[in-house]
Amino acid sequence: MRGLLLLAALSLAAAEDGLDAWLRYAQLPQDVIKQATVPSGIVALNSTETSPVYVAGKELQKGIKGILDKSLNITHEANRSPSVVVGTIAAFNDSGISIETPELEEDGFWLSIKGEKVEIVGQNERGALYGAFEYLSMLAQANFTEVAYATNPSAVIRWINQWDNMDGTIERGYAGPSIFFKNNALVSNVTRVAQYARLLASIRVNGIVINNVNANAQILSDANMAGLAKIADAMRPWGVKVGISLNFASPQTLGGLNTFDPLDKSVIAWWTKITDKLYDHVPDLAGFLVKANSEGQPGPLTYGRTLSDGANLFAKAVKPHGGIVMFRAFVYDNQHLNEKSWKDDRANAAVEFFQGLDDKFDDNVVVQIKYGPIDFQVREPPSPLFAHLKQTASAIELQVTQEYLGQQCHLVYLPPLWKTILDFDLRVDGEKSVIGTDILSGKRFNKKGLTGYAAVVNVGQNVTWLGSHLAMSNLYGYGRLAWDPTVNEVEILEDWTRLTFGLDDTVRETITRMSMESWPAYENYTGNLGIQTLTDITGPHYGPNPQSMDNNAWGQWTRADAFSIGMDRTVKNGTGFAGQYPAEVAAVFEDIETTPDDLLLWFHHVPYTHVLKNGKTVIQHFYDAHYAGAETVATFPAQWAQLDGLIDQQRFDETAFRLTYQAGHAIVWRDAINDFYHSLSGIADARARVGKHPWRIEAESMALRGYRVTSVTPFEAASGRRVVQSDSVSGTTSASASVKLTFAAGRYDVAVAYYDMYEGRASYELYLNDAKVGSWVGDNEDRLGYTVTRAVDGHSATRATFRGVDVGEGDVLRVEGRADGREMAPLDYVAVLPPGVVD
Ligand code: GCU
Repeated sequence: MRGLLLLAALSLAAAEDGLDAWLRYAQLPQDVIKQATVPSGIVALNSTETSPVYVAGKELQKGIKGILDKSLNITHEANRSPSVVVGTIAAFNDSGISIETPELEEDGFWLSIKGEKVEIVGQNERGALYGAFEYLSMLAQANFTEVAYATNPSAVIRWINQWDNMDGTIERGYAGPSIFFKNNALVSNVTRVAQYARLLASIRVNGIVINNVNANAQILSDANMAGLAKIADAMRPWGVKVGISLNFASPQTLGGLNTFDPLDKSVIAWWTKITDKLYDHVPDLAGFLVKANSEGQPGPLTYGRTLSDGANLFAKAVKPHGGIVMFRAFVYDNQHLNEKSWKDDRANAAVEFFQGLDDKFDDNVVVQIKYGPIDFQVREPPSPLFAHLKQTASAIELQVTQEYLGQQCHLVYLPPLWKTILDFDLRVDGEKSVIGTDILSGKRFNKKGLTGYAAVVNVGQNVTWLGSHLAMSNLYGYGRLAWDPTVNEVEILEDWTRLTFGLDDTVRETITRMSMESWPAYENYTGNLGIQTLTDITGPHYGPNPQSMDNNAWGQWTRADAFSIGMDRTVKNGTGFAGQYPAEVAAVFEDIETTPDDLLLWFHHVPYTHVLKNGKTVIQHFYDAHYAGAETVATFPAQWAQLDGLIDQQRFDETAFRLTYQAGHAIVWRDAINDFYHSLSGIADARARVGKHPWRIEAESMALRGYRVTSVTPFEAASGRRVVQSDSVSGTTSASASVKLTFAAGRYDVAVAYYDMYEGRASYELYLNDAKVGSWVGDNEDRLGYTVTRAVDGHSATRATFRGVDVGEGDVLRVEGRADGREMAPLDYVAVLPPGVVD
């Protein structure tokens, strides 16, 4: 065993940048390779270079060379040698190889491994490619068992939605500019596009919409159609079809018509013509994605037409070409929601807007429904619309993009969150109606054919794809769950970890444990009990800002006042939302006694003193959960440190940086939310932590030179509500804040809370009695890889920690800050922490 580990460690020397994600094909140790039975050649039953079967042959060759260090030749004719043979059922039959596979569904495959004979049989070419990836995934995990089984997808639609803008930016993008667009055109270099398609094929994603749902009509210009064809060509060999988002008003804004009324003849003719032209460029275009009448986007309601009139307009245009229309259920009116009305509720919108339309949609329309009724929050009940569409095809919309979930700067493993929805039984008409296995599979309402999954993904030019190595488990997990929603979330993680970081047990156990702890921790230190994430909903959706949720028409309300909190969504007294569920489920949420604690404030408005099923009051639960969540992620850097030397240095360092950052930002969250509700309710923390920080020295109470005290917005983004900022102009003299320490002599961790904004790289030095303890630069915009904020607020608040500092009683601690750009070296506090204290 030791020898094995040593060998494994030796092969880690080469730096890895994450580009290959879970398809690294890293070589197994020699003694493990010896246990493998390797076929003597590869037969790919298609010799056309752009066919997925041909690609599967190449991929098998590359993978077997990488993993087992064995070079195999590829042929395209069946032969007698014990080979790995990949092809479609039809190709197997044509070449006279007798196979006995059970019935396969679209994209399904059969995998049989017997000694040196491996058969990979796809229902179609795509399925054959998926089977090849499955075999390689087994080899890469040193799983050499003999198997013979078929697998079929749970649903036909397994798509990605990129929210890429044509100028190359990405809406909610945290990993660099678009790989699809640049300067208002499609990119001409499609290298990354093809690499992305390969990753998607390996997780059995079969379609991608490449432009933002807030769509630019210019995507339909002649030049862009040609560009689109090139993208489709790059992705087609991997079995990934391309689709586009449409802007409903295109006939007017691009076509020059004086209307975009979906029932107007000239509008219908315009869309028909443009769609035909699109299919001339991309004959297998997957179809269209449409966001209409939502958040200011144009739509059929503008002309008093129905949503189905709008969807069917496109459905008819793509029908002759075999395309489909994904019509989003995310329809609501952010102009007219009024919090003063107790009955107003954005959560009601989808079911209300789609009321009466169930039999009105053409059969190639799929209504795409966000998992919850609001917007990708840290916890939501499932959208009740899943229970209402019995005739219309439906798909779920998940979000790999961590928009409200730490924006890839926090580790949050999402499959456990998605599972709360996929595993939910909606009990439609009193019968089992589990969202994943019954509804999205199409079985419950006999909708075989068109149902499935879409995930919003913000892959960008960053070499790691998502900006964070660990965030990639969410993309991988999405593919696995769309194929089979019953697959266990831990199993997904373990496979992903072995493929991404190798076979070491400590690596697998550590990453699995941290990942499984991450979503509960994130929920703990952000928004609890179903109150939503409590982030800045009018800003970047990242750091804490609970008061931004209320007093606006966005409808993500908490209705928090000095005494009580929560949305009353009951039928008897509230917005009536609970009544949108089928009777059995409605009854559970209508009654405060049966509503689970973790959705209490989603459905009920209660005093802060309301006692939960766990015996705590709502407010004490808030306080405790925030401490618990921050404590959990405070262990992440140390857990990760155990992997030093067990994985490559580059990914080790980059991940260590993010986890350390997360531990600091979780404390920002903890304190902001607790201070906010403490101040609002006036109720003390029973454990006397909130607002009391015995190891903390506020910057505003230190001796200041060149620093001035300022307030911040929101107030809870600073400890003690105030910060200090340098008076000096960028780059000139430094400002300092100093204090004589009164703690008993000993070894401490010294944390400095400061703010790191966009457009500025202030530099800092920390001294103890004029001896330098350390220095750092406010350059998170470079290291996190995107723009968070230009202000001193909950998004920019962060910490630098120096561990194991020997402090003597009476020592003078001094922070020197040098402003840069708009970053005036802002400081919040210094914490001198005894071992084990997180504060
Ligand atoms: C959220 C998100 C927007 C996005 C919208 C949508 O509100 O913040 O950026 O456009 O959802 O899903 O359409």
